Amino acid sequence: HINGQHPSVKYRDYSDDRKATSDETVYTTSNGAPYPHPYETQRVGENGPLLLQDFHLIDLLSHFDRERIPERVVHAKGSGAHGYFRCTNPIPELTSMDILSEAGKECPISIRFSTVGGESGSHDQARDPRGFSIKFRTDEGNWDIVANNTPVFFLRDPAKFPHFIHTQKRHPSTHLTHMDDSTVFWDYLSQNPESIHQVMVLFGDRGIPQSWRFMQGYYGHTMKLINKNNDWVYAQIHIKNQQGEVKFVKQEDSASYSADHSTKDLYDAIEKEDYPKWTLEIQTMTPQEAEKAWEEDKINVFDLTHVWPHSKYPLKKVGELVLNENPVNYFAEIEQIAFSPSHLVPGIEPSADPVLQSRLFSYPDTHRHRLGANYQQLPVNAPRTKYRAANFQRDGPMAFFNQGARPNYISSIEPISMRERTVDLDKVHGHFIGQAVAFMSEIRPEDFNAPRALWEKVFDDGAKERFIKNVSGHMENCSEEEIIKRQIGIFREVSDDIATRLEKATDIKGYPGIKDMKFNGTHNGMASSPEKRNAN
Ligand code: HEM
Repeated sequence: HINGQHPSVKYRDYSDDRKATSDETVYTTSNGAPYPHPYETQRVGENGPLLLQDFHLIDLLSHFDRERIPERVVHAKGSGAHGYFRCTNPIPELTSMDILSEAGKECPISIRFSTVGGESGSHDQARDPRGFSIKFRTDEGNWDIVANNTPVFFLRDPAKFPHFIHTQKRHPSTHLTHMDDSTVFWDYLSQNPESIHQVMVLFGDRGIPQSWRFMQGYYGHTMKLINKNNDWVYAQIHIKNQQGEVKFVKQEDSASYSADHSTKDLYDAIEKEDYPKWTLEIQTMTPQEAEKAWEEDKINVFDLTHVWPHSKYPLKKVGELVLNENPVNYFAEIEQIAFSPSHLVPGIEPSADPVLQSRLFSYPDTHRHRLGANYQQLPVNAPRTKYRAANFQRDGPMAFFNQGARPNYISSIEPISMRERTVDLDKVHGHFIGQAVAFMSEIRPEDFNAPRALWEKVFDDGAKERFIKNVSGHMENCSEEEIIKRQIGIFREVSDDIATRLEKATDIKGYPGIKDMKFNGTHNGMASSPEKRNAN
């Protein structure tokens, strides 16, 4: 049967699963055979052992034994909803992305919000960055944005990520989190000063968002937008909250919120038809502007510890996001949703940002572990393209979309069509030169400019006091004085005022600055002499 399955074979169609109710249902074993009562077991007499032939009991217990899949290794606590994206200000001059090609063009979306470090049952009001992931189901495939609520990140060397995350998780021996023992938390940060910008944001007034609904989103990484002539620009993508305000919670008030406050707040708002909305906005730079940004302002577009100033690179609105539908089944629709920065569509490409490049690999890899090789076939992840999508992937566990009798190789008898390449790779990615190098970033004076501006221009007196209280309070559980001395040395590089206030609050005299410090994770480009710098 080259052209399809045998006509007499009728498989069950699961497409109505979300509409499941108890009406007119019959209790059965998993193979569909009616069974009289769910609580019954078969045994040898009233007091005898159970029988191996009792498929009903074994079916029940063995499925229960397998109910848990691995939780996400980071961003395990989260919730989400569905809705739509509408393009309001098309940008065909910048990108050939189908979804951004016409005003009014829409596609279904799902969004998942999350905290980062905690487990699946952890508190929504943790002092932690927040994840903000969007799956756009466009006519030309699924496009994912996997963003955070802060524009910068702790690191710019991807190999640091597992180390850094380990220091945010439970201690291997005590099994305590950094709330009870913050020693390794500050040990990492004090050895990797490029984290300082994100540390300032995290311990400032913006460290605990009040709920998902009132958050901003930032891609953080630079992407490339490519138009149909293969001209390209660098782009930063922002997701701007339209709920009127961006709400945060003070440390002392955070305990008064329920552990699931953000989850409930989002769900309730959607049930009340108070649909949360965001706008999608972009900043762009031509490759020439990016070179100038480096020469003039030392902005490296591949370094996500830095931002692009809005005054020089203004935001442009491209569309709106609305969440108007709660999940019917949390596990199927939110736990099983699988985002990746490498789920891209024609018209957008990754930049050379090394952290982004690593993430392109890491997400599909973890999905294969967490959900299985056919994770893209799960209903919430499956693409809904305008054409009938086909490929040569076959089999593996739970292959629901196994493509019938269609040849599993490039067949000359029954060929499938292939679209011509639209991206001129040479023009879009042809500007890389050089030989292999072992790369690790270096701390530079510019790394402290944005944190300093936060302290001097953004934080008012109250915010400064709260910041010192938040940091020194967290450091109370750090058992190594040397680590605090180092971190104060890093803060002194931002501002003498911060360091002096922290010294007072912790009663520990910190280092005078970082120029003579050696780091186990970072080259010190601020070392006092070239010899010392080379010694790092
Ligand atoms: C989740 C890896 C940096 C945003 C995850 C997951 C992994 C991961 C393995 C779990 C995914 C899953 O199980 O579904 C990494 C690595 C990074 C990195 C290796 C750096 C080398 C970042 C950065 C951002 C980010 C810089 C934001 C700008 C997120 C978000 C999620 C996530 C939002 C949750 C996705 C969801 O809602 O399902 N990351 N990550 N990550 N990551 Fe990262």
